[in-house]
Amino acid sequence: MSKQRVLTGITTSGTPHLGNYVGAIRPAVASSKNTDVESFYFLADYHALIKCNDPDQVHRSTLEIAASWIALGLDTDNAVFYRQSDIAQISELMWFLNCMAAKGLMNRAHAYKAAVQDNEAAGEDADFGITMGLFSYPVLMAADILMFNAHQIPVGRDQIQHVEMARDIAQRFNHHYGEHFTLPQALVDDDVPLLQGLDGRKMSKSYGNTIPLFLTEKQLKKHINKIKTNLLEPGEPKDPDSSSVFQIWQAFASPEQTVAMREEFAKGIAWGEAKKQLFELVNAELAPARQRYEALMNTPAEIEEILQAGAQRARAISQPFMDKVRSAVGIRPLV
Ligand code: TRP
Repeated sequence: MSKQRVLTGITTSGTPHLGNYVGAIRPAVASSKNTDVESFYFLADYHALIKCNDPDQVHRSTLEIAASWIALGLDTDNAVFYRQSDIAQISELMWFLNCMAAKGLMNRAHAYKAAVQDNEAAGEDADFGITMGLFSYPVLMAADILMFNAHQIPVGRDQIQHVEMARDIAQRFNHHYGEHFTLPQALVDDDVPLLQGLDGRKMSKSYGNTIPLFLTEKQLKKHINKIKTNLLEPGEPKDPDSSSVFQIWQAFASPEQTVAMREEFAKGIAWGEAKKQLFELVNAELAPARQRYEALMNTPAEIEEILQAGAQRARAISQPFMDKVRSAVGIRPLV
């Protein structure tokens, strides 16, 4: 049996933060070393244009995300690591899929529906500010996935619907034109932590409550000190389960360290002390990668070279496959 293919994309519209690290980057880096599967990781820069119209930000984010993943040890010899926009066949496939995707299916996409609801709540026209990019986002994502006939798609819960839509579109295409596409499945890991941000809500760029992944030690300390706590004094027992400090601790600590910190909370550890220990723990895990990150950020040519090598491997699959798909829909030489 041929190997299972695992594929996932990272939208290049922001700066990686600790939530991205524990939720997506750390597990992906670990599985990039698995030689029992074929993994594909890509920078989804076309997706970035859906929510970000600032060229410098898209460009900067692409650099930061690539540097982060490489610095943290992504195995780019085993996994195929590439930039979506380097694979011309993806946008070509997207058109073919657009012509198979039911508009009614796209009407049900969460991201689009939420935008319509926001407009209605604000008394605006339902379509106010909604681009075709947002509307057809699931079709672009289907093209990413189906292009490489990926079996498993590691994603967060919010993306399950998109993978199901890719499956739906693939089925329709296969039914009409023959079996060309593998039906993909979302892979949601319930064991990866969902981090809280500085204010206790989910850590997210849109809430402005993140701790960026690669800060100087001084900045990291400062950010950790900004995590919201209650007014309990040293010596007063504290509830670990409602504390972002404890929750971030848990995401970086060994099981033994987690048990120990739980006891410290019960004994009334001072917030200042808990934060100091949290800084030491997080810093110890990130410090070696931070050095590599800084070096890579200063030599973007090195990153570009890695991406070009990945793109070549990706195109070795997408080019011949797309020739078949073109031919299947009737687009082929006349003789
Ligand atoms: N839309 C995904 C997100 O925002 C990123 C993404 C783009 C993706 N294309 C993909 C994920 C294909 C998995 C497969 O998280």
